[in-house]
Amino acid sequence: MSEQAVLLELEVGAVAHGGHCVARHEGRVVFVRHALPGERVRARVTEAGEGASFWRADAVEVLEPSPDRVEPACPVAGPGRCGGCDWQHAHLPAQRALKTAVLREQLARLAGLEVDAVVEEVPVPASAGTSAEDAARGLGWRTRVGYAVDGDGRLGFRAHREHRVVPVERCPLATPGVVDLGLPEHRWKGWRAVEAVVPAGDGGRLVVAEGRSGAGRGPSLPALATEVATATTAPTGPRRPPAPVRQVRGRTWVRETVGGRSFRVTGGGFWQVHPGAAQTLSSAVLEAARPRGGEVVLDLYSGAGLLTAALAEAVGEGGRVVAVEGDARAVADARRNLHDLPQVRLVQADVRVALAGAVGGGGQAGRAGEVPATADVVVLDPPRTGARAAVVAAVAARAPRAVVHVACDPAALARDVALFAEHGYALASLRAFDLFPSTHHLEAVALLAPAAPARDA
Ligand SMILES: C[S@@+](CC[C@H](N)C(=O)[O-])C[C@H]1O[C@@H](n2cnc3c(N)ncnc32)[C@H](O)[C@@H]1O
Repeated sequence: MSEQAVLLELEVGAVAHGGHCVARHEGRVVFVRHALPGERVRARVTEAGEGASFWRADAVEVLEPSPDRVEPACPVAGPGRCGGCDWQHAHLPAQRALKTAVLREQLARLAGLEVDAVVEEVPVPASAGTSAEDAARGLGWRTRVGYAVDGDGRLGFRAHREHRVVPVERCPLATPGVVDLGLPEHRWKGWRAVEAVVPAGDGGRLVVAEGRSGAGRGPSLPALATEVATATTAPTGPRRPPAPVRQVRGRTWVRETVGGRSFRVTGGGFWQVHPGAAQTLSSAVLEAARPRGGEVVLDLYSGAGLLTAALAEAVGEGGRVVAVEGDARAVADARRNLHDLPQVRLVQADVRVALAGAVGGGGQAGRAGEVPATADVVVLDPPRTGARAAVVAAVAARAPRAVVHVACDPAALARDVALFAEHGYALASLRAFDLFPSTHHLEAVALLAPAAPARDA
């Protein structure tokens, strides 16, 4: 069968995790992108096989539109084009309803839980400079934009589930600060990836150009506006520690400000992309954990120290926050960011290794042994894959009164929640935030607490 040539007429059903909806063709499940529940569409099959349990398709013609459908703002948001935006064709409140449905469905299917959480709107702060009209359409919120580079040196984004780069002239999800850098106007031949970083407010501007190997200075860089700081870094990977960011011109870091505290974030290091995210998540974590003066808190996957700072202020100098982070550059940033908080201890290590060191090896595991064997509160903010079994077990073994799980993937969250249940921890509250409008992504903050012991009959 020629996959590209096959068109199906489909009645589109419920939304599914991953930015698509479910339809059926001759009994087989078809995941359809660029459609909305209740629509009738003509869809081009993009992945299929006689033995496949499901097919994938992309809606190329809408025969009966949903009332939630809107015209996408971006010329490359649509079938076969940019893979970045999944829901730009939906009205913003409808996007949040779709994400709410996915969050609930994942928790029901993977953790056996009925939850009533709704994905909440997070306003784009005025300091981002985004127009109210754009913000209301789910645009103008990305303070960080990571571009791929095509063979001709043009910047763009990968097509959905493909390596093909779709060139862009201007990503409407970017804040005006990122757009003003004008990076797509230049050619970046020979570079692997380019990231624009422009915090809302006055935190500086940074361009991180990533080379194809760690050796040498890399290809020549385009002549950017002189005030733009530029840094190059080698590609990173699971088995390769991140290369130091090399300063080409200007600073290699930006400054983010949250609740009056400023954070230095080195190029390539993690920071939330939405300009309202850091404050929103920091407040939600505190609200869930309710750390008390003098408590011992573990902040796992701590990055540049955003949540560590809020937790340390809450426990005070009589308490202790042990923050574990694997990226040496992020730990160096955290060291500067938290220097005024003597109750913080930073541990640079893989979280799983650090937790295993304290539980299994006592003080013998060197740096890893610095993680205490008990804690009052554990906050974990893992990457998209979630914390997984070994980390969940090691967290539960510390018998915290509260575990706060910050998750950017509802399926990974649901799997971790199910794992915590095996260790006697139950979901006590859940909030979710629309920190990635126009895409299918969401961010959730879950509170897990020891389940009440079952009463004897
Ligand atoms: C989602 S970010 C959270 C950062 C921080 N909590 C914040 O709010 O800014 C996840 C962080 O975990 C780190 N990380 C990923 N895998 C790790 C691992 N196995 N061990 C330690 N740190 C890890 C990444 O470097 C990144 O800084």
